Amino acid sequence: MATAATAFVPLTLAPLPYVIDALEPVISARTLGFHHDKHHRAYVETLNKLIVSTELANLRLDQIVRETAARPDRVSIFNNAAQAWNHSFYWNCLKPQGGGEPPLSLKQKMEAAFGGVDACKKALADGAVTQFGSGWAWLVLDGHELKVTKTGNANDPLPQGLTPLLTIDVWEHAYYLDYQNSRADHVNAVIDKLVNWEFAAENLEKAMDIGDSAHVAPLLRT
Ligand code: FE2
Repeated sequence: MATAATAFVPLTLAPLPYVIDALEPVISARTLGFHHDKHHRAYVETLNKLIVSTELANLRLDQIVRETAARPDRVSIFNNAAQAWNHSFYWNCLKPQGGGEPPLSLKQKMEAAFGGVDACKKALADGAVTQFGSGWAWLVLDGHELKVTKTGNANDPLPQGLTPLLTIDVWEHAYYLDYQNSRADHVNAVIDKLVNWEFAAENLEKAMDIGDSAHVAPLLRT
């Protein structure tokens, strides 16, 4: 419960790490505007209303996700917290002129786990395309092993003790204005032209330095 001594500090919507049209033509400014300024903002604002008078009020966002993941009485908080965290993470997974070759540390992990960079990209694309309905595809670290996983709706890998390295949003709001129902075209364009391998490598190197992926909270409070 927030008290006068621990006044509630609302979570804030961080600005995008690039200008609104920076990801065109793969993701239009219109899509990015709705996605960040409407959808992501709504998750953050709803979450603040839901947590203000609870014991969760001043936890970090990733802590709220973990604390509420298995709580049937906290489903709404979990959904909004996870979506707020997922989107903050996702914006950093994209960059203008992205794609290409991953940094060496990540490339070596991809080769060890998948046999090569292209095979890893294909596994990530397959995960994103085959996720049934709304959700996310992830490149994660499970202990010291690189894996691809996917989650439905708001769910993410944090409560499973996995370290997210990269994600692709496959909710329809991420691509429908630009690609209509062609999710595969959107996913392949993101992987080829926007994905921020340097961010994934930073998350990998941080997790490997710490040596315990369950305790890594990638970068972000909001
Ligand atoms: Fe989204």
